[in-house]
Amino acid sequence: MNKQGKVVLVGAGPGDPDLLTLKALKALNDADVVVYDRLVSAEILDLIPAGTVLIGAGKSPGRHTMSQEEINDLLVTLARTGRRVVRLKGGDPFIFGRGGEEALALARAGIDCDIVPGITSAQGCAAAARIPLTHRGIANSLRFITGHCREGRELDLDWPSLTGEDCTLVVYMGHASMARIAEGLIGHGMKADTPAAAIMCGTTGREWKVAAPLHAIAATARDAGMTSPVLYIIGRVVDTATALGFQTDECTQDHSVCLG
Ligand SMILES: C[S@@+](CC[C@H](N)C(=O)[O-])C[C@H]1O[C@@H](n2cnc3c(N)ncnc32)[C@H](O)[C@@H]1O
Repeated sequence: MNKQGKVVLVGAGPGDPDLLTLKALKALNDADVVVYDRLVSAEILDLIPAGTVLIGAGKSPGRHTMSQEEINDLLVTLARTGRRVVRLKGGDPFIFGRGGEEALALARAGIDCDIVPGITSAQGCAAAARIPLTHRGIANSLRFITGHCREGRELDLDWPSLTGEDCTLVVYMGHASMARIAEGLIGHGMKADTPAAAIMCGTTGREWKVAAPLHAIAATARDAGMTSPVLYIIGRVVDTATALGFQTDECTQDHSVCLG
């Protein structure tokens, strides 16, 4: 009998438990062990049946509790004990989630791996904030970019390809680098008054949104006191959103605990 277990890489969506897919919920109900990331909300962890082993592999900017290699090894080791393992990740596992690296490590170890997609934070946060990411006549394309850069390194973005007026840009992991991103975009021709929004803890009860022109969005988010996870949306669709009910928020809640 093959006693080798299997791993399911599951996208938990942006935070609101109602945005979990039925397939994700089923995988969580069937799991023996769940290895979860910091961005998985407490409300989603609460849905996991009692008796399931929970392992936090949380990563936060600049403070990795487990290295990626350690997480890969953990998944392989757990699966080899014959258990059903869920690797639960915020948003979608294959969008800035390093799900590809984990799936590759499992494939190399000869372990079965299924992928359950999740709603990525760009989709979830934009819809919750009433920002249409594409809009006929205003934005006919969409780019997801990462603002993360290794310590001491320059941001490695293809600036000239990012400045088109008809494209909405969504910046993941950009809270620390947003001022440099805005500078780079403006330096390569994007209008400094392009509308932009910053959304923290989107889709959760702790959602917090601010808006400002591109040249000021980093300072606006920082001065408001926002901390990761923050998603930045840049493009003319942010203006369209006002007519759809987009509103910025006063900070009235304790955001020291956001997601996980
Ligand atoms: C490591 S990436 C993971 C992205 C994830 N795989 C996804 O598909 O959304 C983490 C970044 O996603 C964004 N993010 C994730 N959830 C968020 C939320 N609920 N509100 C705002 N930003 C979020 C932030 O930019 C954060 O720094």
